[in-house]
Amino acid sequence: MTDEDLSDFLDSDGLPNNTEDVDIGNYHEGNDLNDLTGKEWIKFTKSWKIYRPRSRGQSEKDHPAKFPEELVEDFVGFFTQEDDWVLDPFMGTGSTLVGCRSMGRNAVGIELTEKYADVAKDRARQQSLNPVQLEVMNEDCRDALSNLERKFDYCLTSPPYWNMLKKSRGGVESEHKKRENEGLDTKYSDSKRDLGNIDDYEEFLDELEKIFLDVYDVLKNEGYLTVVIQNIRTEDGEMKPLAWDLASRLGETYVLKQEKLWLQDDKPLGIWGYPSEYVSNVAHHYCLIFKKVE
Ligand SMILES: C[S@@+](CC[C@H](N)C(=O)[O-])C[C@H]1O[C@@H](n2cnc3c(N)ncnc32)[C@H](O)[C@@H]1O
Repeated sequence: MTDEDLSDFLDSDGLPNNTEDVDIGNYHEGNDLNDLTGKEWIKFTKSWKIYRPRSRGQSEKDHPAKFPEELVEDFVGFFTQEDDWVLDPFMGTGSTLVGCRSMGRNAVGIELTEKYADVAKDRARQQSLNPVQLEVMNEDCRDALSNLERKFDYCLTSPPYWNMLKKSRGGVESEHKKRENEGLDTKYSDSKRDLGNIDDYEEFLDELEKIFLDVYDVLKNEGYLTVVIQNIRTEDGEMKPLAWDLASRLGETYVLKQEKLWLQDDKPLGIWGYPSEYVSNVAHHYCLIFKKVE
C-alpha cells in the first residue's frame, strides 16, 4: 500500500477514518476503562511518545530522577476514570499526585526519604479546582503496602533503577558532576531500606518483585500497573536488562500487556566509547504495562 492509499484511512491528525464502523469522535457507553473518546483512546495506544518535562520548581530539582507530570496525565487518563484511586509506592516528589489532581483522580503516594515526601506533601497541598484526595505516606513501601486498607484502580510508579545513581558511567558520571556542582542530590539516600542501595542485582530484583506482588493484592481485579524503568549499563560495560527481567518476572503473576516508550529528545549526547567501543546514549525509558486478571 502506498502512502497515498494509506492517507484514505487517516484524517489530518493521522487518525483512522473508519467512522462508519465505530464513532470514534464520541464517548462510548460501553467504555468502563476510562473517560476518553475513541480518538483520544487511539492516540494513547501508540507505543511511544516524546515527553519533555516542564521546568521544575526549586524543591523538586533536588530529586535526581523525576518523571514528567504530562506522562502521569496520559497514563492516568487512559487507565482510570474520574474519582478513581491511584497508587504510587515510589512516589519521590509526588509527580503522580500532581498529575492525578489535574485529572480529577485521588491518589496515595509512598516515599521512604523524608525530604522528598515533604516536597510531595507541599505539592499535594497546593490549591486546585479539582476536589480530590491526595495522601502522602513517608514510609518504606514494604511496610506501608501491607497496611493499606483501600483497593486501587491503578498503580503508576517508577522504582530506583537498581543502584544506577551510585555508579560512575558515561552519562551518569557527567550528570553527577553537574548536579554536585549545583549542590543537588546525586542519590536518593544512604538508608539501607532504600532499594537504590542494594548492590546485588538478583537481590534487588527479588525485592522489587515482592513489592509488586504486594501491589497486586491492593489492586482491584482488572486494574492495571505501569512500571517506568530502564535497562542498565554497568560500570564494566555490560547491559543488565532490568526492564526485561522485571517484565518477565511480573508476567508470571500479572498479564504483561505491552510496553510504551517514553522518549527523550532533549538529552545532550556524550561521546562515551569513542573511538574504540560502542556505548549507547540511552534516551528512552520503558513504561511496562501489566494487568491484574484473577
Ligand atoms: C525513580 S524515583 C521516583 C520518582 C518519582 N516518580 C517522581 O517523579 O518524583 C524512586 C524513589 O523511590 C524511593 N525509594 C527507594 N526505596 C524505597 C522504599 N523502600 N520505599 C519507598 N520508597 C523508596 C526513592 O527515595 C526515590 O524517591
